[in-house]
Amino acid sequence: MRRRTFLFCFLCLCQVSGFAFLQQKCSLKGRWKNELGSNMTVKAVDGSGLFTGSYFTAVSTQQGAHIKESALSGQVQLKHPVFGFLVKWSFVESVTSWVGQCFVSQTGEERLETTWLLRGKAKTEGDDWSQTRVGKDVFTRLP
Ligand code: BTN
Repeated sequence: MRRRTFLFCFLCLCQVSGFAFLQQKCSLKGRWKNELGSNMTVKAVDGSGLFTGSYFTAVSTQQGAHIKESALSGQVQLKHPVFGFLVKWSFVESVTSWVGQCFVSQTGEERLETTWLLRGKAKTEGDDWSQTRVGKDVFTRLP
């Protein structure tokens, strides 16, 4: 009987700590950097999955641009770390949106695997075709 109680308590503890582990990992909140050297900070995610933050890109499509911090806003699913966010660049007339998912490696490292669309300003409708770029970014957590 005692052994069963012990086993029950042990399983309960595992569940509780497992839950805490999941909560801690793959939370978008915090500071992240990507493979280009860009940095972003995600502030707290609210109860409906909305979040805001800031983005500092390491690169720009505009040569000689004076890169500045830009605001980001996004949403994340509450049960799974599937998300989307958008940055309206503060120093050029373009916007970028990312969609992605957070994964945890076997060593416990969180990675945000994302795909982005960058939209620049077309001078004319005829130039519309040229102003959308697509790519991938991988973000890892900064300490
Ligand atoms: C622009 O030059 O139009 C604004 C900056 C765009 C930076 C892009 S967005 C996708 C990719 N990931 C980054 O961190 N920076 C580039």
